Parts: sequence; C-alpha cells; structure tokens
Amino acid sequence: MEKKAELYRGKAKTVYTTDDPKRLIIHFRNDTSAFDGLKIEQLEDKGKVNNKFNYFIMQKLEAAGIPTQMEELLNDNEVLVKKLDMVPVECVVRNVSAGSICKRLGVEEGRDLNPPTFEFFLKNDALHDPMVNDSHIASFGWATEDQVKTMKEYSMKINEVLKKLFGDAGMILVDYKLEFGLYEGKIVLGDEFSPDGCRLWDKETRKKLDKDRFRQDLGGVIEAYKEVASRIGCPI
Ligand code: TMP
Ligand code: ASP
Repeated sequence: MEKKAELYRGKAKTVYTTDDPKRLIIHFRNDTSAFDGLKIEQLEDKGKVNNKFNYFIMQKLEAAGIPTQMEELLNDNEVLVKKLDMVPVECVVRNVSAGSICKRLGVEEGRDLNPPTFEFFLKNDALHDPMVNDSHIASFGWATEDQVKTMKEYSMKINEVLKKLFGDAGMILVDYKLEFGLYEGKIVLGDEFSPDGCRLWDKETRKKLDKDRFRQDLGGVIEAYKEVASRIGCPI
C-alpha cells in the first residue's frame, strides 16, 4: 500500500491517504500533547510505543467482537486502517474518579464509580472539548440515536474486556477515551487506545502509569508506557 498525500496532521499523529480510497495510513509521532495542545513535547520512542500498543489492544477488542478500523501494522510508527467518517465526539468511561470529573463535581481522586460513568465530549480544542449529551448530538446531527446507542454499548463492552486485561496484569483501568466513526454505514472504533488516552494505576502502589505522568511532570513517561506494555504481554 503506497502512502500518498498528508490528509490531516493532529497533535500526535499524521494521517495519509493511500492508493486505496478506503484505506489510510496513520503515522504515530513522538509529539506528546496535553491540555488541548498547550503543552507539547517530543518523547523518544513514544510514536513506536503507542503504535504497537494501540495495535495490540485493537486486536484484543476485535477478538472480543468490537469492530475496529485496524488493518495491518506496517512498521514501528505506521498502521494501515479503514478510512472512517469520524463522529466528532469523544466517549469517556470512568471506573474511578480522576481528572476533569473531580474538578467538575468537586469529588476527590480515587473514588470507585459503580456503575462506571459514561460521558460525551465534543471534539474541539479551541473550546476545550466541552461535555455534551445525547440531546446535543441528535439536535446538531453529529450522530443518530442508533449510533449513539451503539457507541455506548461498545464503550461498556470494551470496559469489561480491558478492565480484565489490565486487572490481570496488576493495574486499575481508571478511565479512558474512545472515538468512533462510520465505515459503510456502521459504527467502528477508530483513533487509538494507548496510555495517552486512558488512566492506569498500579493496583498495589497506585503509581500512575499513563499520560498523567506527562501532564503532572512526574517523569518516566515512556518508561511507564513500556512497563504497561510489558505487563500485558504487548511486544514493543
Ligand atoms: P478527563 O479526566 O480530562 O475528562 O479525561 C478522561 C480520560 O479521557 C483520560 O484518560 C484522558 C482521556 N481524554 C483524552 O485522551 N483526550 C481528551 O481530549 C479528553 C477530554 C480525555
Ligand atoms: N489529548 C488532549 C491534548 O492532547 C488532552 C489531554 O490529554 O490533556 O491536549
């Protein structure tokens, strides 16, 4: 598959067209961004680690019956994917309180959320991804009611699969963000799942093993990502 024109350059990934109009190549860069692009740094190996981590997780999700855009791992930094028409919302599932929900609701970090919460955020850096609900999604035509239902169902099924995967490896899946798109009219999981878009804590020590290490200047960011990969048996 030949890489052609640059289609889109995001904060951490660049997307290229290919000679197949239904396929894209995603290139994972070393750029690491937080606070909607306010803080950006290059972290060595980050592109490679996230590309391989993402491919590994997506394969697990496919095996569990979740349709994903993954096609083929091409090399350390690139993956071939189906071209999706992205739904412009982010789906966030939380098993434990952390991050924005603590500020928004005035709750302490580390509270178990049972059942897990599900939230939609509009993808818009300039507006700092404001929270939206089903009604906004319907009124603005970002997705149909059926598509919203499917995104919620897939997000919760993914929670069961990944809570177990990380739990068995001694970690707590605190929260995560997913993005879906449409392929031939069906909802398919897109974007990425990596320690960049989720929170993972060590079960015993509660050590943060995700992008909060970067957001909070804790150091050892990529070392932590590699540790997570190694614990779940993901080759880097
Ligand atoms: P939050 O606590 O900032 O709302 O984030 C919840 C989870 O979703 C956390 O694991 C980070 C992830 N997330 C992203 O990766 N990108 C985003 O733009 C947002 C809003 C959340
Ligand atoms: N993913 C967003 C950014 O890159 C938000 C964050 O992770 O803090 O800025």
